[in-house]
Amino acid sequence: MLPEKTFEGRTGIITGGATGIGFGIARELVRLGARVVIASRKEENLKQAVEELGERASYFVFDVRDAEAAEQLAAKVESNSGRIDFLVNNAAGNFVVPAEQLSVNGWNAVIGIVLNGTFYCTSAIGRRMIAKGGGSILNIIANYAWTGAPGVVHSASAKAGVLAMTRTLAVEWARHNIRVNAMAPGPVHTEGASKRLFPDEKIEEGIRRTIPLRRFASLEEVANAAAYLLSDYASYVTGESFVIDGGQWLGGADYWNRAMRE
Ligand code: HXC
Ligand code: NAP
Repeated sequence: MLPEKTFEGRTGIITGGATGIGFGIARELVRLGARVVIASRKEENLKQAVEELGERASYFVFDVRDAEAAEQLAAKVESNSGRIDFLVNNAAGNFVVPAEQLSVNGWNAVIGIVLNGTFYCTSAIGRRMIAKGGGSILNIIANYAWTGAPGVVHSASAKAGVLAMTRTLAVEWARHNIRVNAMAPGPVHTEGASKRLFPDEKIEEGIRRTIPLRRFASLEEVANAAAYLLSDYASYVTGESFVIDGGQWLGGADYWNRAMRE
């Protein structure tokens, strides 16, 4: 979608960039000239992804719930590249569970990865962007940050927190030339989401019926939107939350409810 070399000379970090949507975004940014560092827990996945992405990609093993590790990631990338131009907070944990059966540890696992992890990375990298004169941050959320969704109270609460963080920092850090946006994809087939959220054809069909365009998004559609929001073509866009879900959010939380029940 964007011209080649849009990201030439830029370096950035994508959490959870070895699989799914994060990998799709990494692939598109590398194609457009960026250097990317993908960061997550599973070294095997990271290694394989870097092999596919090529020489402009590297990896860092960390758990996004570890604030000290997020600091080490930021320090390492800055020392290797001089600066960090962009950050994609994409890492997430999720599973479907009735709220009354969700344990405290289950709640903490998802809040820790999605809400705390996004803050730890944003804080460590944002401070360096401030010192270097600017940057661009993209937070991957979900359309249920607005509507809520039965079965994912932990994830919906965390994503709503990330939405508030996006808007807060867009205003607070505008004077530092840092843009902060969010993107809310609708359902996309990925390694993590498919087996946890749409594990069989019946559930998948139920979800498809909640989407006016009657299909899931492709990785390319989502990666193109992310690349735009991170690029200079969106230089006047900040605090925005771009919903790319085939119109699903217009049905609200009860659409999800019916998809889970039927
Ligand atoms: C109920 C569950 C559970 C499940 C885990 N738990 N899975 N409870 N149902 N299916 C509980 C455990 O019993 C435990 O609580 C607590 O959660 C922590 O579990 P651990 O396995 O120790 O956690 P951890 O190893 O830290 O793993 C985190 C995880 C896991 C979130 C649970 O699923 C993960 O690593 N996921 C990463 C990838 C992922 O989820 N991708 C999907 C993103 S898709 P107790 O009380 O027993 O100790 C997405 C889509 C959004 O976000 C929108 C879709 C349209
Ligand atoms: P995915 O393939 O499971 O990707 C999640 C990534 O997060 C994995 O690469 C995982 O890598 C990483 N991760 C998980 N826990 C981590 C931790 N504690 N520390 C560091 N990294 C961690 O799922 P996806 O569908 O691509 O999801 C990507 C983003 O899109 C998420 O924010 C998700 O909420 C959002 N989203 C997805 C959909 C969808 O339908 N797919 C819809 C809306 C929003 P490791 O296992 O190596 O740590």
